[in-house]
Amino acid sequence: MCGIFGYAGNGDVCKILYQGLKSLEYRGYDSAGMAVVGDKLNFIKDSGTVDDVLTNITFPVNSVGIAHTRWATHGKPNKINAHPHLDEKNKVAVVHNGIIENYKQLKNQLIKKGHIFKSKTDTEVIPHLIEENLSLGNFEAFKKAVAQLKGSYAIACVIEGSNKIYFAKRFSPLVLGVNGDYFLASDIVSFLRWTKQVIFIEENDIGYLEKGNLYIENNGKQVNRRPNEIRWNFEEAAKEGYEHFMLKEIFEQPQAIAQTLADKRLISFSKHMSELDKLVITSAGTSFHAGLALKYVSSLPLEVIIASEFSELYRGGEVLSISQSGETADTLRAVRLAKSLDHKINALVNVVGSTLTRLADKVIYTHAGPEIGVASTKTFTSQLAALFQLNALMEGKTLPEINVNPILKKADEIHSISKTLSKSNDIFYLGRGVNTVTAMEGALKMKELAYLHAEAYPGGELKHGPLALIEESLPVVAICPSDQNRDKMLGNIEEVKSRGAFIIGLGYEKDEELIELSDKFVAMPAVDSSLTPLYYSIPLQMLSYYTAIELKRNPDKPRNLAKSVTVE
Ligand code: M6R
Repeated sequence: MCGIFGYAGNGDVCKILYQGLKSLEYRGYDSAGMAVVGDKLNFIKDSGTVDDVLTNITFPVNSVGIAHTRWATHGKPNKINAHPHLDEKNKVAVVHNGIIENYKQLKNQLIKKGHIFKSKTDTEVIPHLIEENLSLGNFEAFKKAVAQLKGSYAIACVIEGSNKIYFAKRFSPLVLGVNGDYFLASDIVSFLRWTKQVIFIEENDIGYLEKGNLYIENNGKQVNRRPNEIRWNFEEAAKEGYEHFMLKEIFEQPQAIAQTLADKRLISFSKHMSELDKLVITSAGTSFHAGLALKYVSSLPLEVIIASEFSELYRGGEVLSISQSGETADTLRAVRLAKSLDHKINALVNVVGSTLTRLADKVIYTHAGPEIGVASTKTFTSQLAALFQLNALMEGKTLPEINVNPILKKADEIHSISKTLSKSNDIFYLGRGVNTVTAMEGALKMKELAYLHAEAYPGGELKHGPLALIEESLPVVAICPSDQNRDKMLGNIEEVKSRGAFIIGLGYEKDEELIELSDKFVAMPAVDSSLTPLYYSIPLQMLSYYTAIELKRNPDKPRNLAKSVTVE
């Protein structure tokens, strides 16, 4: 994962690198560093957050610079493994996102030539490879090094004595902000405060930038990449008084859903979908859950496959890939494989211009705005809104009005329930039908944010094994709207309650029987049964958020995770 930021312009380089990198911390936050170059190369790096390592850094030489926030893949998070990585003469500094698959082989070759390695990272081979060929000139040396790399990379590099940032991209995100100055970054959000003009660096692009000059080539030929204007603004990507991005994003759901449903492209895309014999959905994490929910409500022949499990076995039909970031490595691998098997690719994505949008034949968007919190919240409900609307349109209907505002008013009530949950080690989530998926999503959020063991089951499966785990006071979150599954769910709730479980019931506000069975009850409005996952996942997001708060976890930056999973 990791975040890369580079800057060449007339501003204060160290300050701009710090500010840009701060907005990329959601991509990784176990160590940070920067390198600023002119006649001399200055660098700093250490384990810790961007604030821990890079607050108030100034260097005497202040020409162009690169910075990095890390999510460890190879080597522990510590000072030596932090980026930038340098050659032994400290002339070449490199920051990298991705995985160099052949690094061991390259490292052995370089060691035989006398290079001395300090870190356990795959990245460190890059500055050594560049240094090997500096006599050819900086850009030639950079190109020669990149040509030897296998795997995925977004690389930024500075070299002593030069005012250029060298960069290369293959399978890892890299974008360029332009406003006279240049901002090279893993994500648009990091430079939105300075510019909305974006150049999307393409696969296998390699080039350099310096004040007032940009050069890119692909396959040995110079290419001219034009800027696009992005609609997101900086305010949308800021916390605006909320304690955490996640809380802000939970509260932005009414607008995110409405904006998503207002997109007229849903109509033409539903026509396209209705002509298909088969659709294979492939996605990861929460986006996979959105696809799974569609399978429960749609009559379209659908297969839903976790992206990392997608293989040659899945043949026939078109592919729909769902992703917030459009940069998830597992998802992109699945899509590339599907393309090689001649599947047409459709994508439902939140980030405009992301890699997935460029791989796909047809793209529709969720219009949720930037999502910074690692947990998917508003993008999940926006994905559900888009998918359920597509399904309704295929059936010649449209969705009833969606109003989730009354649920958002329950924040305090849900916070008080989370105080009980925070005292447990294990939590069960039960649902039936499409709300099995709601249970899965609720449990995922609880694991991700509060680090509590959470299991999701279809109510009917309890008796086939997991009931043995139910014991006195074990919290069971029961998702029980007044739909066709309600009566059977009530039976399942009775089963766990009679074995001592503590029931947190979510259901229709006037469901007296459920209220009676519940130790805590979250009253929900009457909702069309096909829309229940969209409504019911919101209190579950809040439950995880507040449980994390009670346990003093940072919900925006859960341990071991990063927002955009750009490595397989
Ligand atoms: O950007 P994507 O939607 O492709 O991301 C997929 C998953 O990594 C993501 O949904 C993850 O599961 C969430 N952080 C969970 O809240």
